[in-house]
Amino acid sequence: MNDSALIEIENATIYRGDTRVFHNFSLRIEQHEQAAILGPNGSGKTTLLKVLNREIYPVVRDESRVRILGRSRWNVWELRSHIGIVSHDLQYRYRASTCGLDVVLSGFLSSVGMHGSLSSRVSATQKMQAMAILDGLGIGELAERPLKNMSTGQQRRCLLARALVHDPDTLILDEPTAGLDLTASFDYLARIRDLVARGKNIVLVTHLLNEIPPDIERVILLKAGRIVADGRKSDVLNERNLEKTYDTEVRLAIVGDYYLVYPPL
Ligand SMILES: Nc1ncnc2c1ncn2[C@@H]1O[C@H](COP(=O)(O)OP(=O)(O)O)[C@@H](O)[C@H]1O
Ligand SMILES: [Mg+2]
Repeated sequence: MNDSALIEIENATIYRGDTRVFHNFSLRIEQHEQAAILGPNGSGKTTLLKVLNREIYPVVRDESRVRILGRSRWNVWELRSHIGIVSHDLQYRYRASTCGLDVVLSGFLSSVGMHGSLSSRVSATQKMQAMAILDGLGIGELAERPLKNMSTGQQRRCLLARALVHDPDTLILDEPTAGLDLTASFDYLARIRDLVARGKNIVLVTHLLNEIPPDIERVILLKAGRIVADGRKSDVLNERNLEKTYDTEVRLAIVGDYYLVYPPL
């Protein structure tokens, strides 16, 4: 299983409700690739992650297939130890009274919210692990604090901690900095870079070019369920490809290892 692709999608057709988001879609991402998926709102980024996370299945047809780490069947629990997902909307699914530690512990149960009886369902070791992860992210002091008394940035970091409980090799981040102010975004991105430095692979979904960490090697541009461009970051990120993706005229500046986009002057 070790050298199989993280995800291998071939000729998939994928619906959300009545909307056909992908048709005859193919994509392969290797396990040790640091990748970013970029595209406008509605282009299918979150849908793609839900396929990877086994929340959505493609239409079954002979010629299509989806394999994750070489397998087409997964037990969700088992998948969690390989892939951790941080979705920007997950925080809205918790009760405002849930404390930081319980958010992290809920990762062990692959559930959202604890409905009272969490303590009886996790072991002392799991509690210690969860505390260690919070400390590792520099937010040990949030363990007892309810979500409603945290900033959005702090809530987001608790969710990152939650995704780390199974020590997955790959972290998938869906617009991780959406709604965060500059300080919180930079802080969050620094933590992601830290995790990469410690050996995690990341697949980052965003529509903010300037937030692509230098560690990202591959960029996939998505528009209306189709790949506009895919390849090495320096080859893919140019004005022509971005204009095709976003249907708007753009200018691109490269500053150090960062790409900055701005309107024509
Ligand atoms: N639950 C849903 N029911 C019907 N259509 C949906 C649903 N969720 C998303 N869509 C549609 O699927 C398309 C892709 O959405 P999504 O993957 O969320 O895009 P992105 O994450 O790139 O903004 C959009 O056209 C969106 O309107
Ligand atoms: Mg989305």
